[in-house]
Amino acid sequence: MNTKITSTAHYVPERVMTNFELESMVDTSDEWIRTRTGISQRHIIGENEATSDLSTRVAERLLEKGGISPEEIDIIIISTVTPDHFAPSTAAIVQNNIGAKNAWGFDLSAACSGYLYGLETGRQFISSGKYQKIMVIGVDSMTSILDFTDRDTCVLFGDGAGGAILEPTDNSIGIFDSILHMDGSGGNYLIVPGGGSRMPATVESVKDKKHFIRQDGKKVFKFAVKGMADVSERILNQNNLSGDDISLFIPHQANKRIIDAAAKRCNISPEKVMINIDRYGNTTAGTIPIAMNEAVESGRIKDGDTILLAAFGAGFTWGSILLKWETS
Ligand code: ACO
Repeated sequence: MNTKITSTAHYVPERVMTNFELESMVDTSDEWIRTRTGISQRHIIGENEATSDLSTRVAERLLEKGGISPEEIDIIIISTVTPDHFAPSTAAIVQNNIGAKNAWGFDLSAACSGYLYGLETGRQFISSGKYQKIMVIGVDSMTSILDFTDRDTCVLFGDGAGGAILEPTDNSIGIFDSILHMDGSGGNYLIVPGGGSRMPATVESVKDKKHFIRQDGKKVFKFAVKGMADVSERILNQNNLSGDDISLFIPHQANKRIIDAAAKRCNISPEKVMINIDRYGNTTAGTIPIAMNEAVESGRIKDGDTILLAAFGAGFTWGSILLKWETS
């Protein structure tokens, strides 16, 4: 049983924060951010908004676009590193919000690779033959773990969500290969140190800003370029495909320079690379499903297209997925 994506959707919060606004908060400039990362602006959650709210908007749009009733959903997978709470899961909150009373589900933590991990997990459930409709959402509210006095991190991220409905198909379409990796030896290069069982929240931990994300940007950059390029090249090679066979490359949007390096290594020409980092920044698990839905809605993805997805993120986690597009 193959797995195909039958509908896609995305949602970003209304509030836009430009690079110029950041100039008034930390020692940075619009020019530096644009030339080093490709980012011009990002969307950020409002005061009363959280990850489950973004996810619920995506879930509602998925149901509407797919013409599906909430009772038909079997499993809800929410890939995120910024859940509303440790417990209950964001998946449970979304399940209740949309009235998916026959669904079970869970949150999945794989940072920027979360959406690819989610698609692969959903695909395995579909191929078991037991489940018919799986909702996979990639979402992060990164501003909830950003230190807006740390210019190394605060200029990079934004908030947003996207997702898809996965269903079985007898045809030889849909997701046809995946390679996923994890290397925990890179964990300390990109980490939120506090708030978990290793360092529960205390007055001290809050004062020391242990609940914000911190990174060694240069190290992460180096690993991301190599990881994303290697895995994309490998998945093409093992399917006897070249960059010319790819209709659209949808990479994780962390840094335009990382994307360009991966596309170059795979000989994928720039017009076949989906880039929207300029408008959203790095929304972690949200980047690929947001970009995928924008590509679908703007007609950049058509039936019969071969699509390559690739991601790299905290963990380290990384991977690639190949799919043949056909929704009907
Ligand atoms: N504004 C202005 N100047 C800055 C800023 C800023 N926001 N941040 C750093 N600088 C300065 C540095 O201090 C340095 O100054 P110096 O030369 O006087 O020492 C100079 O700019 C150059 O800094 P570099 O670190 O060499 O800049 P680089 O070209 O490596 O770009 C960046 C930094 C954008 C963080 C890059 O390393 C990167 O993108 N790394 C990947 C990080 C990432 O994407 N993390 C997200 C999660 S992981 C993922 O999604 C793949």
